[in-house]
Amino acid sequence: MARLKIKDILKSGKAGDEVVAKGWVRTKRGSKNVNFIALNDGSTINNLQIVVDVESFDEALLRDINTGASLAVTGTLVESAGSGQNIELNAREIEVLGKADPEKFPIQSKKHSLEFLRENAHLRFRTNTFGAVFRIRHAMAFAIHKYFNEKGFNYLHTPIITASDAEGAGQMFRVSTLDAKNPPLTEEGAIDYSQDFFGRATNLTVSGQLEGELGALALGEIYTFGPTFRAENSNTTRHLAEFWMIEPEMAFYDLKDNMDLAEEFLKSCIKYALDNCMDDLKFLAQRLEQEEKNKPQDQRSMPLIEKLQFVLDNDFIRLTYTEAIDILRNSKPFKKNQFQFPVEWGIDLQSEHERYLVEKHFKCPVILTDYPKDIKAFYMKQNDDNKTVRAMDVLFPQIGEIIGGSQREEDLTKLENRMKEMDIPVDEMWWYLDTRRFGSVVHSGFGLGFERFILFVTGMGNIRDVIAFPRTPKNAEF
Ligand code: 4AD
Ligand code: MG
Repeated sequence: MARLKIKDILKSGKAGDEVVAKGWVRTKRGSKNVNFIALNDGSTINNLQIVVDVESFDEALLRDINTGASLAVTGTLVESAGSGQNIELNAREIEVLGKADPEKFPIQSKKHSLEFLRENAHLRFRTNTFGAVFRIRHAMAFAIHKYFNEKGFNYLHTPIITASDAEGAGQMFRVSTLDAKNPPLTEEGAIDYSQDFFGRATNLTVSGQLEGELGALALGEIYTFGPTFRAENSNTTRHLAEFWMIEPEMAFYDLKDNMDLAEEFLKSCIKYALDNCMDDLKFLAQRLEQEEKNKPQDQRSMPLIEKLQFVLDNDFIRLTYTEAIDILRNSKPFKKNQFQFPVEWGIDLQSEHERYLVEKHFKCPVILTDYPKDIKAFYMKQNDDNKTVRAMDVLFPQIGEIIGGSQREEDLTKLENRMKEMDIPVDEMWWYLDTRRFGSVVHSGFGLGFERFILFVTGMGNIRDVIAFPRTPKNAEF
């Protein structure tokens, strides 16, 4: 008999069907005569209840059925008398595929802290919470490809090893095969990267955007979806050293088109989650509700599913950075000195400022545009005021910045001048500048931090809990 997935058994199994199910034991309980095993195979958050007539099985076999053990169970489906499920499996044959010593298996059926589970990230997929998070993460990756495919975008694989610093922020991991103990030196005593593997200094990419622009300025619309790396020493719940980014880039789009796309894109993925991940979302919503119970009323966030629906149903508020600074300077927390960081025109907004705008002032996702040029990257289109650039950041509740993007400077002279001002090596970027030399057009794009988006959709609070094996400062276990 072929094995059926538990998701399919629960969905279409009928009383009387003979089935084989395989999975891992979540719990075992029961009496002297009958045992109930909750079996999970990862296909759904729901467990299949296995009913075991104790009399018919070897005592030694039953002793091996502990939380974490893997089983193959053959039997007949019966209508369930218990609440919580419609159908259960009456076991005729049980094979223990792999034992799990209850003294040693760390993931017991009691509630574990997220910190403990992070230390056991290799096993945390076996919990309801992480099962739900990673099924949703998969569904969102799929929804992203589906969205862009249906819009006629081409998925472009930009390089992971690169010689350029796209964001110009200098937060790169070096890639080198030189002997770290004894590297070749130039006459000036610096490390001689001309002898390195690529004949130059290279690093892991911080963004696929620059190469993405090259693709867009021929294919029309492209997107990347790949890992990016930043050696920034930020130990926050929003930063990873290795994260996944989705970067669409579109020829002939101005900033307004770019914002429209970003909003439609986010909504389409959220709708996909509501349409396809309801079991997992309901579980995570309950989990969040439990967690929020300990918080004072005014600090509780909107229930998860309501929050997702709210984002779908409402237009994002669009305003300029300058307008946002005015709002912040007129705000209660500013006047009462409650912000930790200063607020004045020219500063990079901190997460506390972004969250005030989104959660307290507008109570709605916000898109801020036209930031001061000095806090943004060299490639952004310069406004006529000579002070601001056509940037846009999308800010979400609980998260802050979820998307960063802009219209790009398509004017060769302006771009070159800005690069020189910012000490960006114009000569090395000849290939990027060629797009402005030959058939330059208005174009735009943005980057969505995949994990920040998954944080939002799952309601999880720490970015380390929405990527399988997080990479953060001083942490690369597993
Ligand atoms: O705002 P950023 O730095 O923009 C870019 O990299 C542009 N090249 C994007 C583009 O226009 N094509 O990063 C984009 C997004 C941020 O809004 C944030 O969601 C996420 O990437 N992000 C991070 N996520 C997790 N950990 C980090 N260290 C992140 N840094 C940025
Ligand atoms: Mg940014």
